[in-house]
Amino acid sequence: MEYMAIIKVDKNKCIGCGMCISLYPDFFKMGADGKARTTNGAKDIDENKVKEIVASCPAAAIKKTSDDSS
Ligand code: F3S
Repeated sequence: MEYMAIIKVDKNKCIGCGMCISLYPDFFKMGADGKARTTNGAKDIDENKVKEIVASCPAAAIKKTSDDSS
């Protein structure tokens, strides 16, 4: 079964500021490329929390996604 994420980091937009990682260490980690990525814990997140998370990124790199079809 495919992993279904509901938040994603757009690597082209992420500036590696680390805000998401300090605020939500359960959901994000820093990749070797200096860009954030979501962890396996980044699923089944409350809708309001998702909005908060998306709004927390100064580079607007965090996107909500309902499935992994992209
Ligand atoms: Fe990148 Fe935004 Fe996180 S710039 S490190 S996705 S807060």
